[in-house]
Amino acid sequence: MNWKHPKTIIGAPAEGDVFYRREYINAQFWRKAARGEHLLISAPRRVGKTSVMKDLEQNCIDGFIAVYSDIESCKNQAEFYRRLYNLLLGLVQKSKRYKTILADFLKSRDIGEINTTGIKIERKDLDFKNELFELIKICGKEDTKIILMLDEFPDVVSAIEKKEGKEAAINVLHTLRNLRHDKSFSNIILVLAGSIGIDHVISSLDRPKLINDLVPITISELDIVEAEELIHQLIDDATMKISTSERAYMIEKISHLLPYYIQVFIDKSDYLLHKENRIELTREDIDRVFNLIIEQNSYFEDWEQRLKRYLPKKDFEYCIGILTRCAHTNQYPLQKAFDFSHKAIPKTPYKSLLDSVLVKDGYLIEKNNNFRFLSPFLKAWWQKRHPEFEIMN
Ligand SMILES: Nc1ncnc2c1ncn2[C@@H]1O[C@H](COP(=O)(O)OP(=O)(O)O)[C@@H](O)[C@H]1O
Ligand SMILES: [Mg+2]
Repeated sequence: MNWKHPKTIIGAPAEGDVFYRREYINAQFWRKAARGEHLLISAPRRVGKTSVMKDLEQNCIDGFIAVYSDIESCKNQAEFYRRLYNLLLGLVQKSKRYKTILADFLKSRDIGEINTTGIKIERKDLDFKNELFELIKICGKEDTKIILMLDEFPDVVSAIEKKEGKEAAINVLHTLRNLRHDKSFSNIILVLAGSIGIDHVISSLDRPKLINDLVPITISELDIVEAEELIHQLIDDATMKISTSERAYMIEKISHLLPYYIQVFIDKSDYLLHKENRIELTREDIDRVFNLIIEQNSYFEDWEQRLKRYLPKKDFEYCIGILTRCAHTNQYPLQKAFDFSHKAIPKTPYKSLLDSVLVKDGYLIEKNNNFRFLSPFLKAWWQKRHPEFEIMN
């Protein structure tokens, strides 16, 4: 049989015809951008932030020009400002309306020229922070609004803090905040996005005010109808078939309906059926697929690793302890989390770790002072990764 695989994409951002668009997210974004608000997209990894931003960049509405960039590799202030400068320069250069303004600007700053292949920067000794401010000044000369989307921003703040110290990290946040309130910046919309808890990174710097003017954009999980639509989009032309009742069972099993989990589920289902040369997915298959997925560490390891990366050791140990406790019960009471803080002694107040790391970053949800895992996948994986004997005494 000539087997046709579903149109799944796993890991890389979903773009073009494999992207499932939710118009209300885009609409929410453009409405706020049109009001000149600076935006914050803070959600756990794999919720679909990057995919949404790339879609916004590629389908920019009239009156705006937009650029997306993953800035995670910027490890110090100089690299950060240089990246911003190049991004902004590259973006306005593409806009015909800026052509003369930009050419005059580069000349006046003695930086270089625009030729047929693009901008040629002739000077190597540029102070990019200063140049960025100068460049921003000319961006107000056109009424096109400029959108700069900076992905993985909290990682950059955290890296700068590690390499150059707390004051340097605060300085970057200050500079950006001052820019946002500067008249010459009024044409520019800053979109800061990230997966590691921005709240936590900022509150560990003790300066929550430095981002509290940003307006949040919410990207939540799919609802059941959207999950069905995505499944349809993925397997429409594929050989495998899933009946209505099995689709419902799959959705129930996934429970926390991130597009990512649906993609992984369909991909593994296709693998199983193809291997066994069957077309119709059964209920038993769905149970098997669930177990196949949690066997694959690479899907989940990052959830543990990233806590290790950005939390101090004692906070990390407390969080791991809490997650392991939640993995081995249905409901984990807040009171016990408090008691455990006397044993694990985290550096950060325990309640702040629960709220602005474990809940905010999408590990747990809290209801009536009880915690539980948001995703049955992550819970099942965590159970295997951290067996019950780790929390026996
Ligand atoms: N809108 C979408 N349509 C289809 N798949 C998606 C969508 N959003 C996310 N995904 C799935 O989730 C994965 C991670 O998406 P990504 O945008 O990189 O998330 P994030 O930036 O939040 O980590 C993608 O590889 C894809 O499998
Ligand atoms: Mg991303």
